[in-house]
Amino acid sequence: MNDTAPAMLVTGGASGIGAGCAKRFAAAGYRVMIADIQDEKGVRLAAELGADARYVHLDVGKETDFEHAIDATVAQWGRLDCVINNAAIVGVIGPLAETSLEEWDHAYAVIQRSVFLGTKHAARVMQPRRTGAIINIASAAGFVAGYSPHAYSTAKAAVVHFTHSSALELIEDNIRVNCICPGNIETPIHTGVTDDRWLARMAKIRVAQQDDQPLPRFGLPAEIAAAALWLASDESSYVVGHALTVDGGLLAGRPWRKQAAPMRVYHPAKS
Ligand SMILES: NC(=O)c1ccc[n+]([C@@H]2O[C@H](COP(=O)([O-])OP(=O)(O)OC[C@H]3O[C@@H](n4cnc5c(N)ncnc54)[C@H](O)[C@@H]3O)[C@@H](O)[C@H]2O)c1
Repeated sequence: MNDTAPAMLVTGGASGIGAGCAKRFAAAGYRVMIADIQDEKGVRLAAELGADARYVHLDVGKETDFEHAIDATVAQWGRLDCVINNAAIVGVIGPLAETSLEEWDHAYAVIQRSVFLGTKHAARVMQPRRTGAIINIASAAGFVAGYSPHAYSTAKAAVVHFTHSSALELIEDNIRVNCICPGNIETPIHTGVTDDRWLARMAKIRVAQQDDQPLPRFGLPAEIAAAALWLASDESSYVVGHALTVDGGLLAGRPWRKQAAPMRVYHPAKS
């Protein structure tokens, strides 16, 4: 074990983008704490990654779990250089009239309030060392309505603005806070299941949706992890409070091939 290697914690690290980050950071030499509520999957991934990876149970809805997980990481690795606030759920789906207050509050607790808690407790141990990177996984849905349910979209918009707001405070202690806004990424979150059935369901969703975006394929967790690794590194030392879209062009607009025919065919210069 390399005692001087940087250490990171990723919430929701047992699956999808979080697991992709755990793998990418481990490959880059980080010591990795995988935090999740899917204990079996998390333990398995930590074992797969070897001696420099551990798993801790962390429900991002609970402040005491954050306190414990952050302290356990520092106890394990002696330092904490990067926290990725990644865990989330789709949350309540459907019309406003059919949405209960409990469902709305639960979605916000897991998607948005969790980022406040993760940032608060990461900063608690990073501030005395006056160094660290906090990376929030927001969403392209936080910029444009209509891609996701009401609570998810608006909670993700709040994650983007919380990134700006918290970055201003924490850069005073040399802690850089940024967020990544993924487009459609191949993970179980699209499928409503967490077991192996997700792959078969994903195959259908992929075919139905991928042609609606400029780069006509879903992204991979590794492509988000690569952006996260850059934001955690000194290569991005002047990047503060930034929302980085990694979305295959989704937020840029309609795919060229789907634009009205006159835009493509009857351009005066070509006719
Ligand atoms: N997949 C996409 O297309 C996409 C697009 C934009 C943003 N995102 C965001 O990326 C992040 C990761 O999602 P994913 O796509 O990898 O989905 P995923 O379902 O594969 O992973 C989410 C992980 O979060 C964990 N989790 C859920 N509730 C939790 C809780 N209360 N406490 C701790 N962990 C909890 C799950 O167990 C799971 O391991 C989320 O913030 C999601 O909103 C995903």
